[in-house]
Parts: sequence; structure tokens; C-alpha cells
Amino acid sequence: MIKRIWPVLACAILIGACKTPQAQKIADTGFTSQVDSVLALMTLEEKIGQMTLYTTDWGSTGPTIREGYQDDIRKGNCGALFNSHTTAFTRQLQEIAVKESRLGIPLIFGYDVIHGYKTIFPIPLGESCSWDLAAMEQSASIAAAEAAAAGLHWTFAPMVDIGRDPRWGRVLEGAGEDTYLGSLIAAARVKGFQGDNFNRADKVVACVKHYAAYGAPIGGRDYNTVDMSMRVFRDTYLPPYKAGIDAGAITVMTSFNELDGIPSTGNKWLLDDVLRKEMGFNGFIVTDYTSINEMINHGYASDEAHAGELSANAGVDMDMQGGVYQNYLKKSIQAGRVSEKLIDDAVRRILRVKFELGLFKDPFKYCDEKREKEVVMSASNMEAARDIARKSIVLLKNDKNVLPLTKGKSIALVGPLAADRVNLIGAWSGAGEGDKCISVLDALQQRATRDGFTLTHAKGCEIEGTGHIGFPEALRISRAADVIIAVVGENKEMSGEASSRASISLPGVQEEFIKELIGTGKPVIVVLMNGRPLTIPWIAENATAIVEAWWLGTQAGPAIGDVLFGDYNPSAKLTMSFPRVVGQIPVYYNQKNTGRPYDPNTKWNSRYQDVVNAPQYPFGYGLSYTTFMYDSIRLLKKEFSFQDTIQVSVSIKNTGAMAGEEIVQLYVRDLVGSVTRPVKELKGFEKIKLGKGESKNVIFKLTAKDLAFHTADMTFKAEPGVFWIMVGPDSDRLQKQVIRLVE
Ligand code: BGC
Repeated sequence: MIKRIWPVLACAILIGACKTPQAQKIADTGFTSQVDSVLALMTLEEKIGQMTLYTTDWGSTGPTIREGYQDDIRKGNCGALFNSHTTAFTRQLQEIAVKESRLGIPLIFGYDVIHGYKTIFPIPLGESCSWDLAAMEQSASIAAAEAAAAGLHWTFAPMVDIGRDPRWGRVLEGAGEDTYLGSLIAAARVKGFQGDNFNRADKVVACVKHYAAYGAPIGGRDYNTVDMSMRVFRDTYLPPYKAGIDAGAITVMTSFNELDGIPSTGNKWLLDDVLRKEMGFNGFIVTDYTSINEMINHGYASDEAHAGELSANAGVDMDMQGGVYQNYLKKSIQAGRVSEKLIDDAVRRILRVKFELGLFKDPFKYCDEKREKEVVMSASNMEAARDIARKSIVLLKNDKNVLPLTKGKSIALVGPLAADRVNLIGAWSGAGEGDKCISVLDALQQRATRDGFTLTHAKGCEIEGTGHIGFPEALRISRAADVIIAVVGENKEMSGEASSRASISLPGVQEEFIKELIGTGKPVIVVLMNGRPLTIPWIAENATAIVEAWWLGTQAGPAIGDVLFGDYNPSAKLTMSFPRVVGQIPVYYNQKNTGRPYDPNTKWNSRYQDVVNAPQYPFGYGLSYTTFMYDSIRLLKKEFSFQDTIQVSVSIKNTGAMAGEEIVQLYVRDLVGSVTRPVKELKGFEKIKLGKGESKNVIFKLTAKDLAFHTADMTFKAEPGVFWIMVGPDSDRLQKQVIRLVE
């Protein structure tokens, strides 16, 4: 075996040792000469190999690699793999790459570590409801540490697609409907995964996805066409990708969808002009799973060779799973339809990341079995998972302060998810093992003696299906109890990729079951587990309390127990509106006013005949066990120039019986613009902790930049005029003040 690369590498390592802390910003690093020296040794086939990413299989008997792939690694035809993890397996594959391929270029291992590797955190939509950026950064950071300890270098996260249609199953992977909050969360997650330098042994490379606008498929049907104005694209959908890139994300994944008739994977404007030139992205671009090939189905490419040319020329560096680059790119280059310079640039970008990761120096840097044992599912990771899980729970209703539960009660715990473990990890749960989760039943059984309550349990019904066989037993124990806790929702296959639903009510007979429980006359606390907002109008009206628990991960049960028994006072607020009925979708808080704004008492305005316009629960909504009183908004001045900072302050008092946290929200409205503006837009928030009876003054500072948007001529700027400044506990209950921005 010829190993010509190693002398080159020795020199690479020496130079690599002096790199700056900004190492992940490719342009600033000192790896150019090393990358070029490696590139100079490569054949065209080997270059194309670096642009090829394949998946392994994780079969029931353990990891396997698809037929032929081992040979591809050996021949240098594949530079990256995904779905291969654990130190044992990645070491085995890396050995083939570095010992048996001609140049010994190390592989990079990717995986969907979306909300945890083995310690599973709440689904990202759930976590986003904490509005706690530090907590989300920490959860990504722990996920990175576990993944890196298990041989991985690269996560296909964060997903930063704005989601406004809960029929789309993938809203669970994102941060909800709002651009401002979504952008902050995108940055926090990138920082968590990559840290200041992804070269650290406990960090992984982040991948901002799915670029672009994948979150807006028509009708909420996954993979469907996306069609929006350039203004909506730039004002609403683009900023979170930019925020992720500005936070240092060094890879970006293209999306499956088309945008204005062009599939993202072949969209030169989107990839080259906007992502690279405009946003200054200098890492590498990977496709989504076979999305090059899918350009044929889109009707954009005539065959795979054509599809490969379109994506290479658009600026896609790495082909995920499609094999198109491997099979066709050489011929396209030889025929002059793709330039070799373009290929060289793509390979440079990929090799640089491998250098940055330190893989040329030590290809087995991430294969430390001892670290894997210590880090993965460590006690401190479990504790952190429980903490962020509690922070993600949204209290939607709490009549007569039935919660928190007091001592001495007899509790009937019912519902198909009460004893469930496997669904708690939700979709996209990495290497998470559902049976390692703690269920609500497990957690409540553990607490029963300590908290002085008696507990009975019956399932009642399944998540799906029409069977009523379990109803009588569940109703019997419910009648004998003081209070009923019903844990209901979706199973984890119902949200996620390829999991759009046209009806988003509780599946099966669960609602019917809850009606019967409420018929007993006992207080019914409904705990929801789901990956998307659901339509639950009857339950919203009739249940005594509703606790939105999403899929909270490994520590779901204890976290829910903490909230039900008041060890943790719920503090989360929705980041996606809950519609009353599917027909209201899309329903999101920052809509436009229209020429005929909503008036429920007259006919000729923008409304439905059969339902109010307002959602069941609006963006920003969530209750606490305590109450908060907002004082009036105070402004230092009412007129501001473009150079000024607008200071908005408001005092909030905890007027209830216990300490709690409140997410104070600031919205603005631009009353008249060169183009119409939304009725409100979130521009600031602060999560504050207040002891019983305590008050705090919250100060927001805005500048003209915060009021900017894409104006009639598409320049991004604020326009002088009158604005409303609104502050309150959610996007619906807001008090306002008027200000004027002057030139
Ligand atoms: C998904 C991506 C994911 C990829 C690799 C695709 O089907 O859309 O989000 O990263 O598979 O698993």
C-alpha cells in the first residue's frame, strides 16, 4: 500500500499546532497549505470520493455496512459516513480508511444527534418553549460531548426551519413559528454543539438545515413545494440560517423542497449567491438524503448525470447517499460540463474541516473507549436532561389551582402513555433507547411514599385504534380516586419526517376516553405527549388542567412528576400557536392586519363563519402556579432618531403564593410601511425569577435596526413613522405605548 500522504501530514501537523482560536472560521485558519498539499496528491476519483457520503445500517444484530461500501472506503470513493457510531464501530471503519486506502485520508462520521445522543433531551420544539437559551446551549453541548465520545464528528443539527403549519410532522425538530426567537435558538444550539472551537474532543461540527424554507411545505405535507414571496423568504425564513452560520456553523444541509420552481440542491442563487457570497458562509454544503437524485422527480433534471451537474455547479460539496457524484461526476468533468476547479474547491472545504477536527493528526481522536463509558448517559447528563425537561413543560390550563397536587390524595393514573417508555424519546432520538426512559408511572410510584399519595394505574385505551376494552377498568379506578391524571398523545412515529397529519386531534379513542373520565365528575389533569401542536378544543374547554409535556426524553417521568407535585413551578411558554381546528392553519401570531380586520360581529371581514380567528393557545402562552402583575410600560422618550436607543421598561410583581419564573415579552408593530407589516413581531424577551411578593423592573433596549425589514425596494432598513411597543405575558395579552421614529 502506498502511503505518500504521511510525509505531507507531518508538516501539516506542525503548522496545525499554531492555529488560532477562531479555527473554525475556515478563511482565518492556517490549513490552506496542508489542504493543498493533500489535494495535489489526489486523483479525480479520490476527489469525488471526498464529496461522497454514505450511510451504514444499524441492523437488529448491530452495526453493518452496506455491501460494497467497505470497498468504497478502501478505494477512496467515500470520504464520509453517517449512521455509524460507537467507538468500536467507527474505529473499525476508520482503520479501513487510514490503513487500507491509497492516501489514508480519514473519514468524517456524521449522525442525526438532534436532541441527544443517548441521553435524550426534550424534542427541540419542546425545549424551545423554555425560552432558555443557556439551557438549550447546554443540552446541545451535552449531546455533542456524548456523540464525540462515541466516535462521531458531525451532527446534522440544528434544524432551524421556521414552522407555522402543525400538520407538518417536522415542526418537532425546530424552534417554532417565530423568526426572532428561532434565530437566537439557532445560534445557541450551534454554540452548544461546536463551542468556541469544534476541534475540542467534546464538540462536534454543526450542520444548519434544511436550507432553505423547508418548513413551509404547501398543506403541511412533507417534501411538498414551497412557494413564497422573496420578502417573506428574507424577512421570515432566512434569518435563522444566517444566525446559525454567524454563530460558526461550518456545514449546511440543502433541503428537499423547491423554492420558486428550483430545488434547493440545484439552486445556484440560493447556495452560491445568498449562502456563500451574501452570508459569507465558508464551510461545506451537504445535500439532504438523495436530494440530488430527487431533482429528476422534481422535473428539474433529466437524469442522474444532469442532476449531479446541476448540484455541483450550484455549489453542493457533498452528496448524501445518492451516489450521483460517485457515478457520474467524472464524466461530467471530462465533458467540460463541470470544472475541475469547482471540484477542487469543494474538496478543499471538506478537507479543511477534517484538518480542523484534528483527524489528520489523530484519526482515532474520537475513539476513546474509556471516555465513551464515562460520558455517555452519565449521572450529570441525566440531571441536566431532567432539568431542561421540566423547563420545557407548558402549563396550558389549571382550573381551581388543582395543580400542584397536595399530599394525601389518591390518584388514578390512566392513559396509553402513562406507563409508556419507548415513545418518550420522540422522533429523531439518535441512539436513544426508549426502554431506558423513566415513565410517568415509574416516577409517580417512586414518589408515592415521599409525597404521601396513593396511586392506582390502568391504561384505558391505546394511542391508536378503536378498542374500548380498557375503559371500564380505568373508569373504575378513576371513580375511586380523588384526582385523575390522564397521559395521552401521539406515538413517536406520528411526528417527524414523513409524518404529516391532515387531522391533528388526539388519535384513536383517546378524546372519547377523556370525555368518559370527565364524566366521572372527578378533576381530570390531562398530560399531553406530542410532537406538534394538537387541536383539542373540547379538552381545552372541559379538562380541569392541561400539561403540555411534549416528548421530554430520558427523564420525562421525573420531570413531569416535579411539575405535577410543585417541586418545579412551570415556566415555559408556547413557541407555536395551537389551532382550534385544522381549518385555521396556518395560524401564527404575527399575521397581517388585512384591509378588513377581524370583527366577530359583522360579516364582511377577514374571518371564518364557524370559528373565531384566535388560536386555542397563542404563541408565547403558558401559565405558572403563581401569578404576575404587569405595571404600565415606561418609555424615556416618545420620539426617537435612527441613532437613538429606545428604552422600554416595565415592572412585574409576583402576586401569587409561591416563587416562579415569568417570560416577559416585547413586541412591536410598524403602523404604516412602504410594504405592509405584521400586527406584532417579537423583538425581545427576558425570563425572570421572582420570589413570592417580589417585583422586578425589566428593561428592553431597541434600536432602529430592530425595526428593520425588507422595504418596497428590498433594502433592509427601518422606516420612519409610528410604532406600537407592546409588552406582556404572551402574544395576545399585551399593553401598548406609541413611539415615533424620526429621521
Ligand atoms: C432528513 C435529514 C437527515 C438525513 C440523514 C433526511 O431524510 O431530512 O434531516 O439529516 O435524512 O439522516
